[in-house]
Amino acid sequence: MRPHRAVIARSMLEVGTPPGPGRRAHGLVAVGGGARPQAAEGADHALFADVALLPTELEHMPLDRFGAVAVIDVLRATTTIVAALENGARGVVPVATPGEAYAWRAAAEPVLLGGERGAKRIAGFDLGNSPLEYVRERVAGKLIVLTTTNGTLAFRRVLAAGPAGGPGPELIAACLRNAQAAARHLWQRAVSSGRGVLLVCAGTNGWFSAEDAYCASVLLDCLAACGPLVPGDGARAVMRLGALAAPPMEELSNSRHGQTLLRLGFDADIDYCAQISVSETVPRFNAGVLVAADGPYDTGSPAGVPCVDGESVAGEPAPAGPA
Ligand code: MLT
Repeated sequence: MRPHRAVIARSMLEVGTPPGPGRRAHGLVAVGGGARPQAAEGADHALFADVALLPTELEHMPLDRFGAVAVIDVLRATTTIVAALENGARGVVPVATPGEAYAWRAAAEPVLLGGERGAKRIAGFDLGNSPLEYVRERVAGKLIVLTTTNGTLAFRRVLAAGPAGGPGPELIAACLRNAQAAARHLWQRAVSSGRGVLLVCAGTNGWFSAEDAYCASVLLDCLAACGPLVPGDGARAVMRLGALAAPPMEELSNSRHGQTLLRLGFDADIDYCAQISVSETVPRFNAGVLVAADGPYDTGSPAGVPCVDGESVAGEPAPAGPA
C-alpha cells in the first residue's frame, strides 16, 4: 500500500460532497477549523481540483477557473522534460510537429532537437524521447526543442484553450518523478490565484491512458497532503482508480503504451518513469519555454499559457525561435 493513501482518505472525508455551482465559481472554498499537521499556505481553504482524462476535454472546459494546470505524460514526454531540466538544460520548447522543430534549428539560436514518432527517435534529430538520453553531458546549458506524439501536443492544446487576453493559469509539466514537488507548486500557485488546479492527461493517440490517470491519482494524493481538496468529477474518478492501483512499475508496464515501450526494448525507461517523488524539478512555462521553476533560467515572470508559436502573448520576450 502506498504511504500517501491514508492522506487522500482523510481529505475526501473532510471534503464530503462535491461543491455546488456557486462554490465552483472560485477554486478555493473556506472549510471549518481542525489542526492539520502538514498545513501548507492556504490550507485553511479547500482547493478545487479536477482532471481532464484527455486533452480534448479542454475544448469544453473554461481554463479561467484554474490558477494552475499540469500536463501529465508519464510515458514519457513529461518525464523526459523533467530529466532534461534536472540535468541543466536551459529550457524545453514543446512543439507539435517535426517541421516546427526543424524551423527552430534554422533560427539563430543553437538548439538540440528531441522527440519521437512511434516512440522512436525522429530522423535527423539529436535526441529521442527516452529520459535516459537527457544526461547532463548532453543537455546542460542547451535549449531543447521537443516534439512527441501526445505529450508536447497536450501542451499546445492547453495553450490553445487558454484565455484569449492576459496571462492564464500557471502551466507546468508533471510526472511521477516530480509528483510531490509539482503538487506543492500547483498548490501554491492556485492558492495565490484564488482559483483551482487542473491536471491534464495527455492520453495516447486520443485514447485514455491508464498510466497518466494513475499519475494524476498520485498528484492528487500529494495535493491532498497540502490541504483539503474539493474534487471535480474527473478527479473523483481518478482518486477511485488510484485507490485500486497496483505498484507503479506494474501500472506502467501493464498500460497499453507501457506494453509498446517494452516491445521496443525501453524497459529501463519504464523503471525510471515509475519512480515517485525523487525529483524536485518543476518545469514551468515562462515566456513560451519550459524552464526549471526558480532555476537559473527562470526569470520569475508571470507564466500562464503565455506563448503560441514562439511568440509571447503576455508581453514577455519570446526566445529566439523561428520568425
Ligand atoms: C508521447 O508524447 O506520445 C510519448 O511521450 C511517446 C513516447 O513514449 O515516446
